[in-house]
Amino acid sequence: MDIAAIIAKAENTHKLAKQEIVALLADDAHTQEIFAAADRVRRRYVGDEVHLRGLIEFSNTCRQNCHYCGLRRDNTNVVRYRMEPDAIIDLARKAKEYGYRTVVLQSGEDPYYTVDILRHIISEIKKLGVAVTLSIGEKSRDEYAAYRQAGADRYLLRIETTDRLLYEDLDPGMSFENRLRCLRDLRSLGYELGTGCLIGLPGQTLESLADDILFFQEIDADMIGVGPFIPNPDTPLAAAAGGAFTSSLKVMAIIRLLLPDINIPATTAMETLDKNGRMIALQSGANVVMPNVTEGDYRRHYALYPGKICVGDTPAQCRSCITGKITAIGRGISTGHGFRLRKTAQE
Ligand code: 5AD
Ligand code: SF4
Ligand code: FES
Repeated sequence: MDIAAIIAKAENTHKLAKQEIVALLADDAHTQEIFAAADRVRRRYVGDEVHLRGLIEFSNTCRQNCHYCGLRRDNTNVVRYRMEPDAIIDLARKAKEYGYRTVVLQSGEDPYYTVDILRHIISEIKKLGVAVTLSIGEKSRDEYAAYRQAGADRYLLRIETTDRLLYEDLDPGMSFENRLRCLRDLRSLGYELGTGCLIGLPGQTLESLADDILFFQEIDADMIGVGPFIPNPDTPLAAAAGGAFTSSLKVMAIIRLLLPDINIPATTAMETLDKNGRMIALQSGANVVMPNVTEGDYRRHYALYPGKICVGDTPAQCRSCITGKITAIGRGISTGHGFRLRKTAQE
């Protein structure tokens, strides 16, 4: 296949057939052209501003047992923590003071936080005037509805992989069907919907990554976060190969070409594999960064994978670090809430 023609088609029509996506993923000779095209589409549709989201990792306790994740319940090497509701609200207040207009509340699937507790946390944080994103896993439709009513604006729930068999193999006790049900419920309850996948899972094929990308288009996701799978020594996948930086960047860039107006974060896992990874991602299709505002030892204990960046840094250090880096690549920091602005036609 003519790779240059496929890139041009993606840039101009934002539509590709599965085999065309596979051809891009399989090709090693045109990666820079793919990144450049994604950078142009990013600028044309979502502009030069970067949206910052302050990330609060409020509990690393999880009832699930995903094979790839350091927070899985069978991992006894993790020091488990839970932040008290008031401490979470205080941290959100600090996030606002650092200038973040969105607070992302992330945790393992931790039943300690009941619907009433979460409703309280969400409604208190909403009083600060920030957008609230939840990333707390699979819940019932009623629970999602309650959080939405309390003011939550967005929800992140990665599909991880659209390969149903691989998903159920790597996430024991979880069903692909329920994952889809969650995403559909979130969508119909009016959340901005964020999902995404891991890249480089054992057994994952290029065909399956192409399916992931087509799935993101099909469910009309508002945000897509992707990152390399980084093997964690405390998990059953300790000896796996893991994902590569360039393939992750390529999947991300193709997502920008095919979903031109969505929000795409330059993810922390990308920076773990390349010390300039987030800035390279911002120049290859991404327009969002999620700096950590978690304090003290909690950062270190929120160990999904080894080598996570910023574990020894304070929220203030991350804030000035990221501002400096973004300014240095000639981009500005948004002062808005950074909701998806749908654009059907190019300007
Ligand atoms: N490497 C990279 N990302 C991981 N996640 C979990 N474990 C790993 C790992 N070993 C990601 C999952 C999850 C998100 C919160 O962290 O995609 O959705
Ligand atoms: Fe829990 Fe999420 Fe890790 Fe799975 S990926 S073990 S649900 S924190
Ligand atoms: Fe945390 Fe750079 S963003 S130190």
